[in-house]
Amino acid sequence: MIELPGVYNLGDPTSFAFSTARERWPTIIGNCKVDVSTHINESNDPELAHQGKIILQDIQNIIDDIKNGALIRKFTEEEVKLIPSLQSYNDKLDELNEPATYLQGPWLLIECYLYRILDLNIKSQSKWIDFDVFEASKRSAFVLSKSGIYELAIRYHYLSKEIKNTNDPISIEKLSFLFEEFIDVSLWGNATDLSLLANATLEDIQSRQGQEARAESSKNIIDNDLPEAWKRLLSVPFEQRRIDFVLDNAGFEFYSDLSLSLFLLDSKLVKNVTFHCKTRPWMVSDTMIKDYKIFIKDMLDETSLPDHREEINYFVKSIEHYHENKQFQLVDSEFWTSALDHWDITPQETNYGGNKLYNYFQDSTLVIVKGDLNYRKLTGDMKWPRTTPFGIALNKLANSNIHILALRTCKSDVCVGLAPGVEEKLNDHWKSLGNKIPELWCSSGQWAVISYNPGKFS
Ligand code: F6P
Ligand code: MG
Repeated sequence: MIELPGVYNLGDPTSFAFSTARERWPTIIGNCKVDVSTHINESNDPELAHQGKIILQDIQNIIDDIKNGALIRKFTEEEVKLIPSLQSYNDKLDELNEPATYLQGPWLLIECYLYRILDLNIKSQSKWIDFDVFEASKRSAFVLSKSGIYELAIRYHYLSKEIKNTNDPISIEKLSFLFEEFIDVSLWGNATDLSLLANATLEDIQSRQGQEARAESSKNIIDNDLPEAWKRLLSVPFEQRRIDFVLDNAGFEFYSDLSLSLFLLDSKLVKNVTFHCKTRPWMVSDTMIKDYKIFIKDMLDETSLPDHREEINYFVKSIEHYHENKQFQLVDSEFWTSALDHWDITPQETNYGGNKLYNYFQDSTLVIVKGDLNYRKLTGDMKWPRTTPFGIALNKLANSNIHILALRTCKSDVCVGLAPGVEEKLNDHWKSLGNKIPELWCSSGQWAVISYNPGKFS
């Protein structure tokens, strides 16, 4: 048994946790008030408006609690009755050595708690149960990504036609290059994350998308196990090849994940694709099943996306085809928004669906785990030395027979799998740019990892 390092803490001024709690959270939660007010104004229902005002006050209380570093309270029996998975938070809070506050305590746990208390306040009002407080921002950010959307639709259209041309089948070498290209698209799609881009301009968003931005960024992939994942893919008989995506953000990232999926399905590299979504609004931009329909609607909206209609329509038609014949499907689980880490995807975890996910992933060819928050949950958000092998940081999950491929742009402190010397170089580089805390290169979103573990680790 290896000894586990401590977790990143909200009170540590050298961690990205520190400014996240003090600066980013109040802005993010403050923006929710705008969306609730807009929804009130757009409705003629007095009861909805009355309940909306209660929600506005509850949201203000959360903001005050964050600013004052209030104690994190456990969820009441009544609240747990309303939403049973809240119990997972009470259990984790019970395990702490000392009471946590919004400004002092385990970063990952309290951040997840924050989104759950927000969700609870909204769902406590009967007329607001299905309201997604982040929906408007998810949609408007997607449409702002116009140039990236066009570029990818054009690329996919061109390649898909080429792939489907049976007179001239594509060689396995070329497929391997294309696999790399679409993985790259999906990886850097994660750079467009609304919780980091809370105040992003159009330029900020666009600078993170598109082929040129990706080519520029490829040297910033600091751990790359893709060749092993490719080998794994080819080792499974086609009829059994299924790829699972543990999704992250809606909008552009979701679009980039769909592009990778379409490429894999069209080229007959995989038979089936399953997308795993959240059951509730989460970390601002995360994907829920209903966001798929919204995505299709937004893609078909010729007012917001007036150009390259042939290519856009082709993209929509292709994914709808696979959706209808069930080669592509979306599922969700309460597990993803519980207080548990991904280490709890085990046969023993029967309260929140960890056992069901474990069973489902047993016959997956690759489980592609997207984004920063999922990576934190894969590694326990612990202060691992950055040269720790990925398999060690996966803890119990390393020997679960689940083939994990993490695609993550680094937006928080935890990072493993680096070769000796890489971290020191990046610290020096970050410092030379005038940054006070050298280690914070790792939270800037400019670097990324593609880390694979074959379900067995020794
Ligand atoms: O705030 C914590 C955090 O994990 C950030 O590091 C990141 O910006 C955000 O939440 C979510 O990122 P992602 O959408 O990539 O999981
Ligand atoms: Mg996210």
